[in-house]
Amino acid sequence: MFAVLQHGKISFAYDGGAYTAYKATWREQFTVYTFYDIVFDGVDDSAGKALAAAVYAFGGTLREEIWVYQSATWKADKDLYKAVQAAEWDDVVLPRGLKEGLQRDVGSFFACKDVYDELGITWKRGILLLGPPGNGKTESIKALLKDSEYPVLYVKSFTTPYGPEYGVRSIFLHARKHSPCILVLEDLDAMVTPKVRSFFLNELDGLAANHGILTIATTNHPERIDDAILNRPSRFDVKYTFAIPDVALRTAFARKWIEKVASGRVGRGLRFGMAHEEVATRVGKETEGFSFAFMKELFVSFLLTLAHARSTQAAEVAPEDVLFKQVGILAAQIIKKTDGVGAKKAGQDKKEGENEEKEGEGEEGEDRSCWSPPEPVERKTHDGVQF
Ligand SMILES: Nc1ncnc2c1ncn2[C@@H]1O[C@H](COP(=O)(O)OP(=O)(O)OP(=O)(O)O)[C@@H](O)[C@H]1O
Ligand SMILES: [Mg+2]
Repeated sequence: MFAVLQHGKISFAYDGGAYTAYKATWREQFTVYTFYDIVFDGVDDSAGKALAAAVYAFGGTLREEIWVYQSATWKADKDLYKAVQAAEWDDVVLPRGLKEGLQRDVGSFFACKDVYDELGITWKRGILLLGPPGNGKTESIKALLKDSEYPVLYVKSFTTPYGPEYGVRSIFLHARKHSPCILVLEDLDAMVTPKVRSFFLNELDGLAANHGILTIATTNHPERIDDAILNRPSRFDVKYTFAIPDVALRTAFARKWIEKVASGRVGRGLRFGMAHEEVATRVGKETEGFSFAFMKELFVSFLLTLAHARSTQAAEVAPEDVLFKQVGILAAQIIKKTDGVGAKKAGQDKKEGENEEKEGEGEEGEDRSCWSPPEPVERKTHDGVQF
């Protein structure tokens, strides 16, 4: 029956007692089982129970880690924690008010438990970040998590060998156990399949109280999410749109990168032959339709091209010439809807073949409205996105 059996034994002292722990691991078909047994001398089992309680408490506490759920298992992940620590709000360019709105929502949720109590409503909240790929949803979540002192539970997928319902149940059980906490569900539209939809709704907002759980979810496709999830307060009460950046945001992004490469933080200190502001303004103007991720790609490819040119050409190469040329090359890769060949834009190819994304200029000010796919019109401007 056992295809593989591994076992081991370790003796140790804890709180004045001597213990021997045995571990056996075996595989049956596709499942790996692990069995622990701890043996000790004692008049009753109180020392064993104290040890077990200490072990569970240790295992259930995060130490510079984030809980990650995948394939029916929760793991305390250090790498994700490190990635979160590397995030900086300063690196994220957002429309005015968006960052502050997010910070306020997260901060006030944890600070205002008594207000929820006074109002007699469950202390829970849902925030949904929506918009086309590559415009800062995940970056912003990382920066929010870095600011927060509460345990973070990050769900990669509801899928488990026992079905998605099992996954959803384990996720909410774990979140209730670790509350107050932040539960992150990325790409919600892909997670909540028709099979698991009603189960998910029950767990999110059913009889069991999700006291102290702040759920932050993201989606590129709000139109695919059931209205019962999307538009019912107490499930996702607040929504923020991360749209394709407008000219002002693209210029701000370019300005940051130009400062970065000129100061030597990246690219060994480049000297531009033009005023930095002039370079940023031109880049901003000529990058219509670029997502932020694509703007980043512009600067990465610019630095690589410049390094290559400098190593192969005798004559001095002006950085701005390489940058502007690179803008032209990348802009030509953008497939415009008006070309009649599809809706996909360069820099937004994560979910190839999936539907359209918001076009034109991003909005100013705090946006609590819902991003929705636009009419297939020519790319010009848009005046905000509304339900
Ligand atoms: N608003 C922004 N400001 C600065 N950089 C950004 C911004 N948005 C995206 N980027 C850059 O693009 C990369 C991808 O962004 P991010 O992962 O946040 O996109 P996303 O909105 O979560 O996309 P997806 O919907 O595909 O998950 C980031 O690592 C970051 O470098
Ligand atoms: Mg993301």
